[in-house]
Amino acid sequence: MEKENIKTIPVCTITLRGNERKYVENCLYTGWISSKGKYVELFEKKFADFCNVKFAVSCVNGTAALHLALESLGITQGDEVIIPDFTFVATANAVRYSRAKPILVDSELDTWNIDVDRIEEKITPKTKAIIPVHIYGHPVNMDQIKKIAKKYSLYVIEDAAQAHGAEYKGKKAGSLGDVGCFSFFANKIITTGEGGMLVTDNEKVANRAKSLRNHASDTKLFNVNRYFHEALGYNYRMSNIHAAVGLAQMEYAQDLVDARIENAKKYHSLLKDIPGLTLPLCKSWAKNVYWMYSILVKPEFGITKNELMAALYNQEIGTRSFFYPISRQPAYSKDKYILGNFNTQELKISNLLYEQGLTLPSSSSLTIEEIKRVAETIRSLSLQKS
Ligand SMILES: Cc1ncc(COP(=O)(O)O)c(C=O)c1O
Repeated sequence: MEKENIKTIPVCTITLRGNERKYVENCLYTGWISSKGKYVELFEKKFADFCNVKFAVSCVNGTAALHLALESLGITQGDEVIIPDFTFVATANAVRYSRAKPILVDSELDTWNIDVDRIEEKITPKTKAIIPVHIYGHPVNMDQIKKIAKKYSLYVIEDAAQAHGAEYKGKKAGSLGDVGCFSFFANKIITTGEGGMLVTDNEKVANRAKSLRNHASDTKLFNVNRYFHEALGYNYRMSNIHAAVGLAQMEYAQDLVDARIENAKKYHSLLKDIPGLTLPLCKSWAKNVYWMYSILVKPEFGITKNELMAALYNQEIGTRSFFYPISRQPAYSKDKYILGNFNTQELKISNLLYEQGLTLPSSSSLTIEEIKRVAETIRSLSLQKS
């Protein structure tokens, strides 16, 4: 295919069309640029309301939110935490940061989420928590997760890094487990550039997370001895500047979520009859927010996922591969501490997802012309091979 003089469609760009600049300028003007300043609490409050939870604790990124969640619930050395094999590496890394062992479970072929029917067989007396990850914005079947968690007295930490605004049976992702964790990295539906949030209805957990994110400072002693630290804590505080961007984003958060869902509808209508593609679905009980519009390229398509990605790149269309399974990451496959915790033969679907999956341009600001160009390019590539 000839490469014309065409505009690049990136896999994701940011949308900053509200009060972001005004609020950031206010930080610079007033001098409140570190983690003290009004925007941190304002953003937390807005985000808690958005998720319908009592408490929201901001932090530096989604990975830190997961780490804070695990430590605030007391997960530690020797504990086991069940996670999907198919997820971004941060989910597993956070478990390791808290010195626990990630126990990997394969994925469902339809939702691409953790296979809830395979969780129970992995539970041992050491299991302390499950981290369901709402992959690409489709919620996990949380009733099933909660049933298992209740039966074995496990904590549920939702990794909702990719699922702002998603719903399970009408309830917001992040509000269904003991703790929910979000990322505000630049490609996320709501962004602060870098940033994260832990949400919970449990005041004790929220207070513990607030303390741990600030070097485990004891807030009651703060005015007496601010340099007393009652445990090993971290500097995971979000800056007022990042929170200023976040607050502005929250003022039109629903539009940002709706735009991704609209993108998905358009992609779906343009791609649905192309043989060899599997398109993302939405279960009857779910509100999928399609963080990234993602597809599987099956052999019937005629070219592989990698070939399709290269051909789209050649036409100035950005894509991303699906995640490389955790079980194949050197930090996990070669680590003696966790070796033997998973059998790669059992992790067939996560490997298939990696082999076949890619993400198409998904910005909230995507135009119908751009979506049409992506879809038509994919169609022409499929026809070339038939
Ligand atoms: C599923 C999942 N968990 C955790 C994270 C970590 O978030 P952050 O990059 O903000 O640390 C991400 C980031 O993309 C993610 O996709």
